[in-house]
Amino acid sequence: MSTVYDLIVIGGGPGGYLAAERGAHAGLKTLLFEKRSLGGVCLNEGCIPSKALLNSAKHYEHALHANKYGVSCDNVAIDQKAVVTRKAKVVRTLVAGVKAKMRGAGVTVVMEEATITGKDGANFAVSAAGTTYLGKNLIIATGSSAAVPPIPGVKELLGDYVLTNREVLDLQEIPKNFTVIGGGVIGLEMAAYYAAVGSKVTVIEMLDHIAGATDLEISSMLQKELEAKGVTFLLSTAVKSVEMGKVNAEKANGEKISVAADKVLLSIGRRSNCMGIGLENIGVEIDRGVPTDTQGRTNVPGVYAIGDVNGHHMLAHTAYREAEVAINTILGKPDNMRYHANPSVIYTQPEIGSVGKTEEECKAKGIEYEVAKLPMVYSGRFVAENEGADGLCKVIVDKKKRNVLGVHLIGAYSGEIIWGAAEMIEMQLRVNDARQIIFPHPTVSEIIRETLWEFKD
Ligand code: NAI
Repeated sequence: MSTVYDLIVIGGGPGGYLAAERGAHAGLKTLLFEKRSLGGVCLNEGCIPSKALLNSAKHYEHALHANKYGVSCDNVAIDQKAVVTRKAKVVRTLVAGVKAKMRGAGVTVVMEEATITGKDGANFAVSAAGTTYLGKNLIIATGSSAAVPPIPGVKELLGDYVLTNREVLDLQEIPKNFTVIGGGVIGLEMAAYYAAVGSKVTVIEMLDHIAGATDLEISSMLQKELEAKGVTFLLSTAVKSVEMGKVNAEKANGEKISVAADKVLLSIGRRSNCMGIGLENIGVEIDRGVPTDTQGRTNVPGVYAIGDVNGHHMLAHTAYREAEVAINTILGKPDNMRYHANPSVIYTQPEIGSVGKTEEECKAKGIEYEVAKLPMVYSGRFVAENEGADGLCKVIVDKKKRNVLGVHLIGAYSGEIIWGAAEMIEMQLRVNDARQIIFPHPTVSEIIRETLWEFKD
């Protein structure tokens, strides 16, 4: 008779591996399936490798402008092959770390593609490489894939020329013309990298602004910063076709344009990997993702969906928390996702950190709010470390209750300090409560405290 696991997790990305680890630590007999590489998209072809590349660009930019800081650097150059080799080493190290964690936690890892085949009594049956495994609970954490639109040429040229988040991280040469379809998070981070290392970068974006739902004032500051570094933005422009050497697009006013391209990055969003895993065999509802409640439960008792596959936020840190909530729910411990205090970061140079409501969202929802803003140069550390740089901190509070609704930052360290603002929202702190927090000095984080003092009592 085959072993019955307490928990079977399908997908070894941030959501899946953390769920497996937490489950095993709590005493659940846990099995984890992964078909490619532990760490999933985030670790292998997303968050982490892109940060390795962006950090090389940061060092390169610092060296190029070192004279601003009294340091001279001659013959500054970027070696793309070395950058990519280091990126691969970072990924290898972290994948090995995840493997070790799984071993340490006592998780059984099967490196195969798994398919849910049905039920065997009260248990779920999952098959992989000809073997059937049984589990009392199932966590689906199969992630997402780059969306491929039916634009002529895109599908046909996908791979070497039209790149997704996967291939763009492995280019051995810096393309002369790097053209990005979609000015969202992936598009902007890669545009920032390739512009920094010398490509002529054009970002084609359908909307009239970049960075999706980011606060508009902040995203337009980022746009200006990237333009100053040579990135061209074609806004309100939709791509119509792609061919070798160029991308053809049309502006909202009907004007047709062609943009030269040696490499094209397709970054128009991601789709939940909810098909082809056998969810239909156990009656799990599928929409654009796998719908869940705030405890990660699907419509089938005992089956949970966490991370990108459920389509809620498509962020690795959201997946981490969803993993913990799902495990606690399996264990019968009360826990719940609270998505309103979910920070997001864009790791461009300068970086953006934001959490909670934007002004645009408040207006759209008819929320009466007050806003206070301060330039980053009010932070001593920011000035000491960022010669001639600009940046902004914007805090949004509810007009009547005066609790913090949103914090939006652009400038160095924004991504590292935004979690503190998330905590303010999570704890429903009012302006006067948040002002009482002691921030370390000198840090850029103090800009949040300073901005809070900009509100009138
Ligand atoms: P996205 O949803 O962030 O942005 C896609 C952009 O493409 C949108 O602005 C959309 O208007 C535009 N677009 C769509 N069709 C178009 C067309 N035909 N022509 C021109 N523009 C078009 O998607 P992206 O950048 O692919 O990112 C995918 C996911 O990965 C997101 O959910 C994001 O949260 C996550 N991610 C997060 C990162 C972070 O937190 N730093 C880094 C990278 C990805």
